Amino acid sequence: MQDLPNLFLIGPMGAGKSTIGRLLAAELSRPFYDSDHAIQDRCGADIPWIFDVEGEQGFRLREIHMIDELTQLSPVVVATGGGAVLREENRRALRERGTVIYLLTTVDQQLRRTAKDRNRPLLQCANREQVLYDMFAQRDPLYRATSDIAVRTDRRSPRAVVNEIVRRV
Ligand code: S3P
Repeated sequence: MQDLPNLFLIGPMGAGKSTIGRLLAAELSRPFYDSDHAIQDRCGADIPWIFDVEGEQGFRLREIHMIDELTQLSPVVVATGGGAVLREENRRALRERGTVIYLLTTVDQQLRRTAKDRNRPLLQCANREQVLYDMFAQRDPLYRATSDIAVRTDRRSPRAVVNEIVRRV
């Protein structure tokens, strides 16, 4: 298993990137990094604070730097934020430096998984369902173009998802 390349998880909010990434890394005995957590640790502030003070653009710049840094480590599992694919720099780093796995889910599942969440500024609005559908329309082509494989995470246990990833990469 150690000869597997870096594994990078992409996909929308609430797809299970952090949970599955942690399990996958444990399964492969390699370090796991979550780019959102790494950004927060580096900055010493949480994501809502970064969005408030620096705007989404400020957060995206921090995200580009962090993804550049994390994708140069090896061998690792990295979970990225749902919007990472919006930036060409991130898409290129992910594609060139490892195998990219798109974790797919449904908007229903996203709504359930993010229902009580206060840490995702883009979902602090009344019309969360519409926001998630719009994001899917914009981002699904980018997730597909960036990934090597796509794996469904809705109605399945994280363990089943990890087993499928290990089998297919
Ligand atoms: C975002 C997703 C979040 C986080 C930020 C923006 C997005 O990460 O990076 O709130 O644009 O979809 P998760 O996908 O881990 O929730």
